Amino acid sequence: MKISGKQYRSVWMEDGIIFMIDQILIPHEFKIIELHDVNEVYRSIKNMNTRGAPSIGATAAYGVAQAVIKHNFATIHNLGAYLDLVCAKIESSRPTARDLFHAVDYMDKGLRLAKSVEEAKKLAVKLSNNYADISVDACKKIGEFGNKILIDGAKVLTHCNAGALATVDFGTALAPVRIAHEKGKDIFVFVDETRPRSQGSRITAFELKEEGIPYSIIADNAAGHFMLNGEINVVIVGTDRVARNGDVVNKIGTYEKAVVAYENNIPFYVTAPLSTIDIDTRTGQDIKIEERDQEEVLYSYGLLDNGNFGRVRVSPEGGIARNPAFDVTPAKYITGLITEKGIIKPTEKEILRIKS
Ligand code: MRU
Repeated sequence: MKISGKQYRSVWMEDGIIFMIDQILIPHEFKIIELHDVNEVYRSIKNMNTRGAPSIGATAAYGVAQAVIKHNFATIHNLGAYLDLVCAKIESSRPTARDLFHAVDYMDKGLRLAKSVEEAKKLAVKLSNNYADISVDACKKIGEFGNKILIDGAKVLTHCNAGALATVDFGTALAPVRIAHEKGKDIFVFVDETRPRSQGSRITAFELKEEGIPYSIIADNAAGHFMLNGEINVVIVGTDRVARNGDVVNKIGTYEKAVVAYENNIPFYVTAPLSTIDIDTRTGQDIKIEERDQEEVLYSYGLLDNGNFGRVRVSPEGGIARNPAFDVTPAKYITGLITEKGIIKPTEKEILRIKS
């Protein structure tokens, strides 16, 4: 992705240090943070310095790699037990996005093949970079397939942020939009603000502005109004996990948008890298939905008039809130899953075919 004219990935590793764009501060401040050990990796995912399923996955892959590179192994026979500890720590950071577990598993399986400590350390660098490159490639392909469903003049609704920052680069839901825009199509994006963490109004709007793609931020409750009035003609969102039956888990509020789109005969597409499709989970109801701290709902965060980054209370003192981070959209509301291998119907048959 280009930010202020410079090319970036959301996360990368150099000489055993992990670098990431701090997404908590976007769009008010552009800051690269460094992670030096597994505890910092864990906190960066849990606190959402990095967020978005593929970006979390790549961070986890680099986290496992970094731990192996930095650890002083007496012998290669100690690698297995050490990997058990590191992988369990990283996996406990957030429960919902499939990519986190997929990435840890990819690293764990690959590293266990090493025959010496030296080989394990080399493999750690290679595997984690491969993981990130595969993810970028998948996003580009999703963009190319997704571009085909976008007509010149499309008015797209998106929820949360499934752009370049949510991935390693390129994005999932925003990838088709970027490609269509690059090809000269006239594309307009309605951006749900996505309370409580405002990934839409902060991060999606930031990315679209950087790309020069026209957009309007809308309040979370406004999408139904624009759909009924014919101002939105397609919805594209990302996903954290797709179940075997085609149910999709994504940012809280996605379900409502899907139901309203269905009611208004508006196509509702989910961009889903194969790494997010979990054939071991039968339905959406079997997916663990993360419930985050109530503070995120009780307060709003952003740039204060005095120029500092801070929070304001938007609830009574002592107020109580519930804060599920994701919801399940049943497959019947979904027009298609846009994967790196093509667009499929959200059915068990199609999902098993594309994953084979
Ligand atoms: O809580 P977040 O910001 O990590 O949630 C992100 C989403 O729900 C995205 O839509 C999803 O991870 C897909 S990102 C390509």
